Amino acid sequence: MWLFNSSIGRKVVMSVTGISLILFMTFHGCMNVVALFSAKGYNMICEFLGANWYAVVATLALAALAVIHIVYAFILTIQNRKARGNNRYDVTDKPAKVEWASQNMLVLGIIILLGLLLHLYNFWCKMMFTELAGIGNEKLAADGFYWIQKTFKDPVYVGLYIIWIVALWFHLTHGFWSSIQTLGWSGHIWFKRWKVIGIIFVTLLCLMFIAVVLGFYFNCAPSLCGCNGCTCSAECCIDGVCTCNLGDLCECSKKCVEAAGACCGK
Ligand code: HEM
Repeated sequence: MWLFNSSIGRKVVMSVTGISLILFMTFHGCMNVVALFSAKGYNMICEFLGANWYAVVATLALAALAVIHIVYAFILTIQNRKARGNNRYDVTDKPAKVEWASQNMLVLGIIILLGLLLHLYNFWCKMMFTELAGIGNEKLAADGFYWIQKTFKDPVYVGLYIIWIVALWFHLTHGFWSSIQTLGWSGHIWFKRWKVIGIIFVTLLCLMFIAVVLGFYFNCAPSLCGCNGCTCSAECCIDGVCTCNLGDLCECSKKCVEAAGACCGK
C-alpha cells in the first residue's frame, strides 16, 4: 500500500497522526486550564476520564497514534539520510531561511518523548494505571488536582516541564504547517497564512500548559484559594499536599474559609 511503501505515503501518515495528536493536546490543554479555577470541576473531569472502558479505549488509540508517529519519524529520517549518502547536506552552509526547528525535528521529538515518559510517570501511572491495576490509594487515583499540586511544588519538575513545553512549541510550530503542506491544503497565499495561524495556535496551547505549571508553583491559581493561609488538619494533608480541595470543600477547608472571611479576596 502506498501509505506504507512510498515516501509521500509515510509523510501523509506522519501528518495525519501529528494533527490528531495536536487535537488531543488542545483538548488536554483546555481540560487542564479548568484546574486553575476549580478543583472540583477538574476532579469531575478526571473521574469521567478514569479507568472507564471508553477512556481506556481512547488511551489505547492515543498510544497507537503516538507509536506510529514516532516509528515513522525514525523511518523517514533514516530514509532521508540514506538518500543523501554520507554528505547529509549538499550545501553545508545551511541557508538562513531553513528553520532551526525543521532541521532538528528528530532531536526535538526525542526530548518530547523523554518529557512524555516523565509526564506519564507523574500522572498516568499514579491515576489510570493505579486504578486499572487495583493498587495504591483509590481515592487519590481520581484526584488529578492533588497530583498537579504535588508535581508542581517541586522546582525540578517545574524546570523539566518548561523545557518540555518549549521543545513542544518548536516541534509543533514547524509540524503544524508542514503537515498542512504535505496534505496539499496550502496554496501559494495560504502557505504564509497557515504558518502564522500555526504559530498563534501553538503559542496559545503551550501558554495554557505553562500557566498551569507556574500557577501551581507560585500558588497563585484561583482554585487554590480555599486553602490559602491556613494549615490543613492532619487527615487532609497527604505527603505535604493539602487535599482540602478534593470534591466538595472538606471540613478543614470550610473552617479555613470561615476563619479567613472572604477566601479569594485576600
Ligand atoms: C503541564 C500541564 C499538564 C498537566 C497538569 C497534565 C495533566 C495530566 C493528567 C492529570 C493526566 C492523567 C489523566 C488520567 O489518567 O485520568 C495526564 C495524562 C496525559 N497527558 Fe498530560 N498534562 C499536562 C501536559 C501535557 C502535555 C503538554 C502533553 C502532550 C505532549 C500531555 C500528554 C498526556 C498524555 C498522552 C496522557 C495520557 C492520556 C490518557 O491516559 O489517555 N500532557 N495529563
